[in-house]
Amino acid sequence: MNRPMLLSFSVGFLAWLCVFYVKAGILINGQFPAPTIDCITNDNVIVNVINKLDEPFLITWNGVKQRKTSWPDGVLGTNCPIPPNSNWTYHMQMM
Ligand SMILES: *[C@@H]1O[C@H](CO)[C@@H](O)[C@H](O)[C@H]1NC(C)=O
Repeated sequence: MNRPMLLSFSVGFLAWLCVFYVKAGILINGQFPAPTIDCITNDNVIVNVINKLDEPFLITWNGVKQRKTSWPDGVLGTNCPIPPNSNWTYHMQMM
């Protein structure tokens, strides 16, 4: 059975206050580390990535063996960066 999995990743820059200093970084859905994708073989993972940064952004799906979907690998050249204030939906079947 192929479970469809629809996810939304909102990528943004955030500064937060620690006890003695301010830290800043790129977060996904306000989280660091990014959310875990809990899936099994054959699951169809669909992730809408919304780029809220002020520069182009790409996600590299390290560890995902792209079956018949080499273009969303997230490597510059096979995948165009997502322009600021735009979104792109990655479709991947896990194996
Ligand atoms: C962008 O997001 C909208 C709303 O969630 C969605 O309908 C649309 O398909 C997305 N576009 C791309 C290119 O992923």
